[in-house]
Amino acid sequence: MDFKQMVKKRRSMRKYKQDQKMDDEALLELFTYASMGPSKSNAHPVEFLVVEDPEKKKALAELKRFGTKYLADAPQIIVVMGNDTSEPTWIEEATITSAYLGLLLHAEGYASSWINIREQTNSAGESSEEIVKKLFNIPENYGILCLIPFGIPDEWIQSRKYFDISSKVHKDTF
Ligand SMILES: Cc1cc2nc3c(=O)[nH]c(=O)nc-3n(C[C@H](O)[C@H](O)[C@H](O)COP(=O)(O)O)c2cc1C
Repeated sequence: MDFKQMVKKRRSMRKYKQDQKMDDEALLELFTYASMGPSKSNAHPVEFLVVEDPEKKKALAELKRFGTKYLADAPQIIVVMGNDTSEPTWIEEATITSAYLGLLLHAEGYASSWINIREQTNSAGESSEEIVKKLFNIPENYGILCLIPFGIPDEWIQSRKYFDISSKVHKDTF
């Protein structure tokens, strides 16, 4: 598919077919390609955790006040992490990787969405990031950027319409 068409067609979709999961070999290939973006000092500090356990998915569904309920029904969820929060650029690194993941999943026929975790809280005011770390035994020096639920789509959201961003583009001076 033409790359620009692919960018237009990728939309956040939140309903997935229940019976189809990506196997371990395909997951490893997905993460390999998602890790091929630019990386400070070529350090590649981003790591992934795949969630398939129904009880853990239910716990993730309560992670924020809004926008997480459908996680209980996602076949697979990727936790995108940086492995050293003493280096603040883990956030850029994990963001680049997550954007690649969305496009790569789309290219493979999967739909996905993005749930930000950093600096978020649940309905009791507890840190979403700390809850994720505890749930999966993730070491303290890791940072959690986002969750990416994905699966074969069970809903269809139209391609992006062309939108005019010319007012946001500046040249030589603001
Ligand atoms: C930083 C960030 C946080 C987001 N948080 C959520 C979220 O908590 N729940 C959710 O369902 N979607 C979330 N999204 C997805 C957006 O809602 C979605 O990208 C936006 O509505 C544009 O739609 P599109 O991705 O289909 O173009 C988030 C996206 C980003 C980049």
